[in-house]
Amino acid sequence: MTLHNASNATKVYATASTTTASVAKGSDMLLELDHISKIYGDLHAVDDLSLTVPEGEWLAIVGSSGSGKTTLMNIIGCMDTPSHGSVALEGRRLEDLNAAQLADVRKNVVGLVFQKFYLVPHLTAVENVMMAQYYHSVVDERQALEALEHVGLNDRAHHLPGELSGGEQQRVCIARALINHPKLILADEPTGNLDETNERIVLDLFRELHSQGTTIIVVTHDALVASCAEREIMLNHGVLTGERWNDERAKEAYEQSGGRPAFTGSSAQDAQREGAALDFADPTKKSKTTGTTRDGSWIFPS
Ligand SMILES: Nc1ncnc2c1ncn2[C@@H]1O[C@H](COP(=O)(O)OP(=O)(O)OP(=O)(O)O)[C@@H](O)[C@H]1O
Ligand SMILES: [Mg+2]
Repeated sequence: MTLHNASNATKVYATASTTTASVAKGSDMLLELDHISKIYGDLHAVDDLSLTVPEGEWLAIVGSSGSGKTTLMNIIGCMDTPSHGSVALEGRRLEDLNAAQLADVRKNVVGLVFQKFYLVPHLTAVENVMMAQYYHSVVDERQALEALEHVGLNDRAHHLPGELSGGEQQRVCIARALINHPKLILADEPTGNLDETNERIVLDLFRELHSQGTTIIVVTHDALVASCAEREIMLNHGVLTGERWNDERAKEAYEQSGGRPAFTGSSAQDAQREGAALDFADPTKKSKTTGTTRDGSWIFPS
């Protein structure tokens, strides 16, 4: 495969970020979802959700199958647009950006770990990682190999996706998402196909990135993976049905910076009233390892 250096993406991104018309004023939040919905016919995959995420937060999104988690991740990652409502990343409302500017956000701000992998089948593992470098800025095979080594895949680097197990493909996706050092990592079930050992490798990687200030939003069915996040929100049929903090210091910092609880509907109080009729069984599966989940009670509508 031949890869050439792309043009200076940072420069292009700077142009997007200086579009003053699209700057939402008065917020320190990296991500702001303002009453977003995604509607397919009669189905509200995401239903009037408001959520703010400060820079550096580690947030988990949990919920049963079909509750709207991937839909939400696609909207945050500029892969999809909401039917209603507004999304702001770094203070820029995404609906105000043109296609080129959105592509720059995808390239420069967000690192995506997809639930369905989306590896290029005719490229090897290392070439798949280099592809992300290519679209971002500069191709560097040594760095790409190091990224694969980081997820324990150095010996599989020159194999095609079809020659890799599901868990190995998942780790190639993670290496690909992290290679350009994104500010925001969106990981949809990043450990769904991993055994205990590899889950630990990925969680350690996330811990390292979190300690360096990277913002992480992870969708998971695994209670242990969710409990590693500072904060968890729970969706059910596109509606927010619970929120809990696993880290009191992070919660205090969030509240001090003006952060408010996530909610569905017109206000947090409305969300509480609405949610009172729902069944709040925690839909996350048991963790792969036992005895390691943190305590922490869900704040459920009463
Ligand atoms: N393009 C689409 N057209 C119609 N309905 C869709 C579309 N995409 C998703 N949906 C529906 O929206 C709902 C939410 O889907 P989504 O993929 O976000 O769920 P999820 O929470 O990620 O589920 P899982 O845990 O199984 O991955 C589902 O009922 C799904 O069938
Ligand atoms: Mg999904």
